[in-house]
Amino acid sequence: MQKVEGSSPFSRFFPLNQAGSGDFEGVRTSASSRIQEGTFAMKVCIVGASGKLGRYMVQQALDRGYEVIGVCREQSVGKLDPFKGRITVVPGATDNRTVIERAVEGCDGVLVVLVPRGVHHYASGTAQAVLDYSPPGARLVFSCGWHITRDGQDVYSWRLRTIVRVFGPVGRLTRFADLDDQVEACRRVFASDTRWTVVRGSDLEEGESQGLPVWSRHVGDPILESNITRRVDFALFMVEALRNDALVHEAPAIVGRKTPSALAHAADRE
Ligand SMILES: NC(=O)c1ccc[n+]([C@@H]2O[C@H](COP(=O)([O-])OP(=O)(O)OC[C@H]3O[C@@H](n4cnc5c(N)ncnc54)[C@H](OP(=O)(O)O)[C@@H]3O)[C@@H](O)[C@H]2O)c1
Repeated sequence: MQKVEGSSPFSRFFPLNQAGSGDFEGVRTSASSRIQEGTFAMKVCIVGASGKLGRYMVQQALDRGYEVIGVCREQSVGKLDPFKGRITVVPGATDNRTVIERAVEGCDGVLVVLVPRGVHHYASGTAQAVLDYSPPGARLVFSCGWHITRDGQDVYSWRLRTIVRVFGPVGRLTRFADLDDQVEACRRVFASDTRWTVVRGSDLEEGESQGLPVWSRHVGDPILESNITRRVDFALFMVEALRNDALVHEAPAIVGRKTPSALAHAADRE
């Protein structure tokens, strides 16, 4: 487990004007106790750490000097070998409430990869455990896809609607995945009074980082039209969201910042 010795001032993570507000009570408690120990670094739990998105987030959190706790299935622990000695791994199913309770203890932030795998409410069980056991005031950042809608105002392409319409029943029939369970997971997050952000990913690709993706509140907005994001940048957006209070209670739909639609509409944002 890595700790950064005394070099990170509290204000680096929580600007003074925000740290003074009541909303930060829980975060202040857990963080300040580590300041007193002279070992302050943001403590972050990554739920689903062994997947592709999870491993990018682990690396980026370590790059920022954060203390990292990773949760992953027992059979996947080996995928985290490259981080051996630098992170703490809590093995177990991510919907196991005991596992999550142990993993999120004292964390300032929790990054959660929501996956609709299987037909046993894996995603909603994972989300519920994180909502129930994360310390009060912790920043909670969840990943999902564009098909999740918060307010019903998203406008979906024919292609995406077809994928959901076909993949939904086929996934359930083959017991491979349950898209509705990811919908239920997000419904619970949206209804909670925790400090959540739900990051909705476009289609993903591998490749070098292009920088922080751009985002919009609604799928269908022209800036998102390119519908592609580098997975490493999806991770970047998740990790950066931990420190971005403007994203609390938002469900940003993201797209790569160098995609044609992002470039074409970036000027509209300025
Ligand atoms: N793929 C896309 O095109 C896409 C598009 C938009 C949004 N997203 C979102 O991006 C996030 C990451 O997705 P990803 O596709 O890039 O995959 P990923 O990062 O590789 O994550 C897959 C996750 O699913 C877990 N998993 C695999 N099989 C499982 C099983 N049978 N039971 C339980 N868990 C299982 C993996 O755990 P192990 O390491 O233990 O196998 C891993 O944590 C998700 O929230 C997804 O909704 C993906």
